[in-house]
Amino acid sequence: MSSFFTLASPDSKKVSIPITLIIFSEYSSWFKSQTTQEKNWLESNNYTGKGFCLLPNQDGSISRVIYGIPDNEDFFIAGDLALQLPSGNYIIDESSSKKALSTPLTHLNFLISWGLSCYQFAPYKTNKTPNDNPLPILVASSQNLIDEAVSYIDSIALVRDLVNTPASDLMPQDISKQVDQLAKEFDAHSQHIIGDDLLTQNYPTIHAVGRASVHEPRLINLTWGNEKAPKVTLVGKGVCFDSGGLDLKPTSAMRLMKKDMGGAAHVLGLARLIMSQNLPVRLRVLIPAVENAVSANAFRPGDVLTTRKGITVEIDNTDAEGRLVLCDALTEADSESPDIIIDFATLTGACRVALGTELPGFFTQHIDVANNLSKSGNSVHDPVWQLPLHAPYQDMLKSDIADTLNSAPTGFGGAITAALYLQLFVSKETHWVHFDVMAWNNRKLPCRPIGGEAFGIRATFEYLNQRFR
Ligand code: BES
Ligand code: ZN
Ligand code: ZN
Repeated sequence: MSSFFTLASPDSKKVSIPITLIIFSEYSSWFKSQTTQEKNWLESNNYTGKGFCLLPNQDGSISRVIYGIPDNEDFFIAGDLALQLPSGNYIIDESSSKKALSTPLTHLNFLISWGLSCYQFAPYKTNKTPNDNPLPILVASSQNLIDEAVSYIDSIALVRDLVNTPASDLMPQDISKQVDQLAKEFDAHSQHIIGDDLLTQNYPTIHAVGRASVHEPRLINLTWGNEKAPKVTLVGKGVCFDSGGLDLKPTSAMRLMKKDMGGAAHVLGLARLIMSQNLPVRLRVLIPAVENAVSANAFRPGDVLTTRKGITVEIDNTDAEGRLVLCDALTEADSESPDIIIDFATLTGACRVALGTELPGFFTQHIDVANNLSKSGNSVHDPVWQLPLHAPYQDMLKSDIADTLNSAPTGFGGAITAALYLQLFVSKETHWVHFDVMAWNNRKLPCRPIGGEAFGIRATFEYLNQRFR
């Protein structure tokens, strides 16, 4: 894991510098109740309640930190404070931060966002500790709080690490290793169907997409939890590199395609969260892992594939490969009628055109699921946005010679037509949610460096918590 561990348990013996959290709107009344010395210091530093200010002791050491926040509506509440404070131990002063901590999640979110801001992806840097001084450490007020925060930080850092790892070091067999490691840590069971076994066990589209790579395609399966508990199945697109196949991507579109296993990374991060917080479900994770490569035996535009479900699909474009590997995995997921199937995929360029790169789109035919998922997302400040499974657009996938095309020849509504293709493989009654995610930060934001990122997993975890806990 690449995040530097910068949280400490409450029994940490070192003296900690208190941090006072103050909401902007209460700053002026708070200011009035401070000592003359503190008032003078704050004023002479031009501090007006935004960002942070260090207050000194008589001897020049730091007595406390004042940290102003706009409201308690931001999940990334600690911002990049951990990157700005001097090295040392800090602790939130609960008694002087009462208003800011009045909502139950603020304290937890401060810890999580503090940890996330310290994330760095350094394994390929010769100098593994690029900071001159050690990062500051936040001492938590209770062990429960720290355990909960760490479960989120580790899950999100896992997603970031997997997405950031270059394709040369993260091929299907490497995802298998990651899954085995996770299974070992949480006493889960993992299984891998590899190469030509995909044909004998009837996963023809996963094989067709992945067969051109020197790294054999595979379907990875992880199960965990009580057999009798409600069944939650997660499916993640694991395209370790998407060259586009014979419909080769142009240079700029290919540049970031190491992230095309972002869906797999998301479901592993979410699985980690579910297992570490012991959600009472029977979890199943399915990851079709392939490389969409170019070779003499690559699948071609115009080929017709027969899917696991029996639906025949004419290949309009070999670059619409994600839906092909997902459709066989979804058929298998649906076969045991779980209580819910949730898939994550970096499926279309069209989704980011519709919603931008920072808002994940989701599709589901069940209104209650959609409403509750949106509500859960808002309640944990992890917004997700429903897009429509607009049935009339299914016509765009009409093939002259097969049951369906894999992609619509016009790019319009591309995220919708991709979702409609997937919908063919899930029965109507099954609660199914499909997330189209970017898995990447294009710009630096507080707590979020440029690079791999988890989108919508806290919203989904909260939804599952509300429904099954
Ligand atoms: N992995 C891409 C989608 C993608 C591209 C996600 C850029 C995020 C950023 C996917 O396999 C793909 O190439 N989709 C095509 C589909 C088209 C050929 C119908 C796309 O969206 O352009
Ligand atoms: Zn593609
Ligand atoms: Zn792809």
